Amino acid sequence: MDKLMIEGGHPLEGTVQISGAKNSAVALIPAAILADSIVTIDNLPEISDVQLLAELLKEIGGEVELGTHEITVNPATMISMPLPNGRVKKLRASYYLMGAMLGKFKKAVIGLPGGCNLGPRPIDQHIKGFEALGAQVTNEQGAIYLRAEELRGARIYLDVVSVGATINIMLAAVRAKGQTIIENAAKEPEIIDVATLLTSMGAKIKGAGTNVIRIDGVDSLKGCRHSIIPDRIEAGTYMILAAAMGQKVIIDNIIPYHVESLIAKMREMGVTIEVEDDRLLIHNSGEKKGIDVKTLVYPGFPTDLQQPLTSLLTQAEGTSIVTDTIYNARFKHIDELRRMGANVKVEGRSAIINGSTKLQGAKVRASDLRAGAALVVAGLLADGITEISGLEHIDRGYANLEEKLIGLGAKIWREKMTEEELDQVKN
Ligand code: EPU
Repeated sequence: MDKLMIEGGHPLEGTVQISGAKNSAVALIPAAILADSIVTIDNLPEISDVQLLAELLKEIGGEVELGTHEITVNPATMISMPLPNGRVKKLRASYYLMGAMLGKFKKAVIGLPGGCNLGPRPIDQHIKGFEALGAQVTNEQGAIYLRAEELRGARIYLDVVSVGATINIMLAAVRAKGQTIIENAAKEPEIIDVATLLTSMGAKIKGAGTNVIRIDGVDSLKGCRHSIIPDRIEAGTYMILAAAMGQKVIIDNIIPYHVESLIAKMREMGVTIEVEDDRLLIHNSGEKKGIDVKTLVYPGFPTDLQQPLTSLLTQAEGTSIVTDTIYNARFKHIDELRRMGANVKVEGRSAIINGSTKLQGAKVRASDLRAGAALVVAGLLADGITEISGLEHIDRGYANLEEKLIGLGAKIWREKMTEEELDQVKN
């Protein structure tokens, strides 16, 4: 097992290319199950979640070729193989296999998903949607069993605005009989991306990206080629890194509109940002002001960026308050930031940050993906060496992290963990 080593304090300069969106990729790959012929998805991020999903599609009999930035899936040979355990438990997004396999085969057995531990992450709204479409859903020893004689379109009101439930219901509904209407749907760009793929496959979907999505079921779907949208959370992470340590950094291959909430908040801090068609220029603008941030569903400020932003806010003058309204336990990075000298505390669903403080390199642990990103930001800011364990979380979602950062002038590398360190992780 490796750890990530960062020698902090080196300014960043240059251009970073943003990869395809993780949270699109992990839905688009299962969506390929729904087609009857070959689906090719490109602009694929090189992350471990993608590799896991490719393996899962092979487990159910798919012919899958995974290249560096492209996956080709022939779903014609797939069967509705039960997946109660194993890889399926390793990532949250395996829940998309439920919607896709139910939509295609009218039955599926999928182990309850794993992924980042951010407090309770129920899937009741997904299940409510599947049941409304006519499926029987039971939880048997940690696996969800779904079966339907036939799926029929229905009107489904989501009690919680959920990205996963919106996509999963779309996946199950595209081949159902009649019309499905999802009300109070999530509006994230990744939902539009999935709807775009499904539409290229022949699905009839209107309203993706608004809070009412209408789907007219079709009998069959065909293969197609699709290019994934840029990862707005990876882009946001590099924007934060650039504001922390950048002289002048260009964040390239993005859709600036997708990161508007972050642009607004960073400008409020006093960061200079120039917006162009598909890239942003971020200049080091010296002193930064503390701000208050509340995470909300899209187009509000994304919960996935509150952790890395908190590390930047340790460098802002005054008090900042970061409140997460989406998850109630997404603050595991705070103890680690304190280890590095940050003046931060958690009260309820808020982190209160008093700045600015000089950070010191330390041995820290990434407890989840975006906590890992927060520690990378902190490590680049800190004096001396920061050692980050829990790298497997970071590898789930950041493609070629070291390469990209080294390209900007950072001193960052991987080292094998010692036996003693491995023992500490196990205990
Ligand atoms: N929720 C319910 N019931 C449900 C579904 C969700 O109560 O049936 C609650 C959740 O517990 C949470 C809120 O609704 O409090 C929002 O959850 P949502 O379903 O939108 O989240 P998700 O689909 O499980 C995706 C991303 C997350 C991102 C959230 C919010 C994927 C694979 N994951 O999760 O990404 O934080 O949307 O935008 O798309 C990450 O990338 O680091 C990450 C965690």
